[in-house]
Amino acid sequence: MLILGIESSCDDAAAAVIETVRPGEAVVRAGTVAGQNDIHAPYGGVVPELASRNHVIAILPVIERAMAIAGCGLGDLDAIAVTRGPGLVGSLLIGLMCAKGIAQATGMPMVGVNHIEGHLLAPLLEYRVDMPFLALVVSGGHTALFMVEDFGRYRRLGQTRDDAAGEAFDKVAKLMNLGYPGGKIIDQLAHRGNRKRVRIPRARVKGAPLDFSFSGVKTAVASFLKSEAAPATPPEDLAASFQEAVVDMLVGPTIAAARETGVDTIVLTGGVAANSRLRARLGEAAAAEGRRLIAPSIQYCTDNAAMIALAGSYRLMRGERDPLTIDAQANLPL
Ligand code: KG4
Ligand code: ZN
Repeated sequence: MLILGIESSCDDAAAAVIETVRPGEAVVRAGTVAGQNDIHAPYGGVVPELASRNHVIAILPVIERAMAIAGCGLGDLDAIAVTRGPGLVGSLLIGLMCAKGIAQATGMPMVGVNHIEGHLLAPLLEYRVDMPFLALVVSGGHTALFMVEDFGRYRRLGQTRDDAAGEAFDKVAKLMNLGYPGGKIIDQLAHRGNRKRVRIPRARVKGAPLDFSFSGVKTAVASFLKSEAAPATPPEDLAASFQEAVVDMLVGPTIAAARETGVDTIVLTGGVAANSRLRARLGEAAAAEGRRLIAPSIQYCTDNAAMIALAGSYRLMRGERDPLTIDAQANLPL
């Protein structure tokens, strides 16, 4: 089955064409992304109005390019999968309207996909992963632990009580005047830094060992920057110390959840899964207990449409389709 995936939940407009044989088994024929980092960089974060306006311009060329790379026309496609939430409603609407338009014009079946489900199933684009598995989803908008029991069966074990991990990276980068998006910049800077130079307290949520909280680390960095010690501290040391705190706070609950559930496989996914220190530390911690860590390559960790097509594929293969009346939902639950 040849499926067109469309994703526009935040500031990336993405399209992909995947070919599936069995649920969860797919070959990515093409994947394209039109990012907007340059547009939002001056503001130090995504400006929703600008994101949706630029999606209007980007979405059709992105879809056309994916289809050209895959060497297919509309008539070759069997179905469409599109993100319907969660995300910025103005952004979601652009991809969803586009998908509905194509479905209406061609009669092709269309399904709306939960963006988080896309991140949870992204590792299947590259690896054979037996279910159940434990997944840590860490992105600019989400930080949560899920048990992936089967296609369509996901159990949330823990989540952030305040900021997402990626949001903490982006806000700290902004405080340090490093640029946007901050995660990648801090990751690179931290390579040269002393992780023990600045004391950053690790937050724990009382009575909820599988939940996360990142607003405290951001505040700790803000107070440090106002302290007398700040001018003499190289930014790479502060970046490394902050990053180590975030990594500790992600690795702890993840390993606790793996012990509690007894799973063999831990999946690391979402934009922050691109972080080199997190990949290394979680990999070591998993291996120390005889568990396997699977982290998709960076292109499938960050927002992409291949994961959306894959997450829609098992329903499409069962012959399901959504009515063209489905709405974009900013807070769509999983
Ligand atoms: O999944 P994603 O592309 O979009 C959302 O759904 O949020 O994630 C983007 C987030 C941003 O906060 C960005 O700073 C973070 O992922 N990120 C990183 C790295 N690369 C991207 N955070 C830490 N280290 C990185 N190498
Ligand atoms: Zn995402």
